Amino acid sequence: MRNIMVTGGAGFIGSAFVRHMVKTYPHYNIITFDKLTYAGNLENLLTVKDAPNHSFAQGDIADREAVGATIEAHQIDTIVNFAAETHVDRSILDPDAFLRTNVFGVYVLLEQARSAGVGRFLHVSTDEVYGDVSEGYSVESDPFLPNSPYAAAKASGELMVRSYHVTYGMDTVVTRGSNTYGVYQYPEKLIPLFITEALEDRPLPVYGDGMQIRDWLYVDDHARGVDVVLHHGASGEAYNLAGEELRYNIDIVRQLLALLGKPESLIRYVPDRPGHDRRYAMDASKARALGWKRQHTLETGLPLTVEWYQNNAWWWRKIKTGEYLEYFKQQYAARLASARDQV
Ligand code: NAD
Ligand code: TYD
Repeated sequence: MRNIMVTGGAGFIGSAFVRHMVKTYPHYNIITFDKLTYAGNLENLLTVKDAPNHSFAQGDIADREAVGATIEAHQIDTIVNFAAETHVDRSILDPDAFLRTNVFGVYVLLEQARSAGVGRFLHVSTDEVYGDVSEGYSVESDPFLPNSPYAAAKASGELMVRSYHVTYGMDTVVTRGSNTYGVYQYPEKLIPLFITEALEDRPLPVYGDGMQIRDWLYVDDHARGVDVVLHHGASGEAYNLAGEELRYNIDIVRQLLALLGKPESLIRYVPDRPGHDRRYAMDASKARALGWKRQHTLETGLPLTVEWYQNNAWWWRKIKTGEYLEYFKQQYAARLASARDQV
């Protein structure tokens, strides 16, 4: 491994991975390849901007020429694919871009990697491919039962990766991360949305009864997990990166309000997300056996996250303008208008 192309490296988890790799492996060249969609942000990479072992190329993973040219120009031998449309609510409003990037884009990336003779291909996937897990913990051999257009597109992309391993003998590995939170997360997902809204004393739209369960993983632990699987994962295998921190949504919201010193009267119960999975839960034994161990629990990770958003309003205030406000209105205006204070 010498020249690693990190697709989607200007997003939330991808940028944490880039920052980690640039610092940890000065002898690797890290090339961030990102389309810079609404979720991509070069300010996430400010700390590695002048690093001699990092460079940036703007491009779309579904664009054969752009992908091929970057692989050739940098003599890429390894690809780590974070690039995706990632927000479940947006996938419900309009699935189109999800199919294009998360399925067709993955295929283009695989095909360009194969024809250029790239070595290891790590694909970043999600616990949402398993669908709703009413009890117990998903293991890697469990079937895929995705329920949202986002999850179905991620499952489809992952199956393409599997097929390139089986059919063409490509050296692939897959990570399936659980709900991730931390610094530089775009303020549309639960934790950064609620922190930034609460900081402005605005109502917090909890879907349904707030009793859905998610498993929370701190972003740097996710990035380190991808590093461990990249270096030590067995070819053709998938690895669950689980935070093993299962919480009801409403408990996360209450904890955030307590950390922010804001009142619970900001909570509003709004009509539920259609097809809303009640519970995700994964078993992380396989990744642990490779040497991965998460360092943060919610007890340490959540205060770090809250503090970062308190101290970095310059970062998120710029985002909460223009297209963001349009999306916010479409997603929340009617819901908040019919909201209730109690379940
Ligand atoms: P994000 O939305 O913050 O970032 C996605 C990045 O991909 C952005 O920089 C965007 O510009 C880029 N991108 C989108 N389409 C592209 C395209 N066609 N070509 C090139 N770049 C493109 O997402 P994230 O939360 O950092 O998620 C990264 C990966 O991790 C995704 O594959 C996601 O499915 C997976 N994942 C996320 C979570 C989570 O909780 N956030 C959990 C498990 C897995
Ligand atoms: P989200 O951060 O969108 O991640 P995912 O859908 O991938 O799990 O949502 C996390 C949980 O929080 C999920 O159960 C939906 C819920 N949620 C709300 O209740 N209100 C909101 O405004 C958002 C964005 C999410």
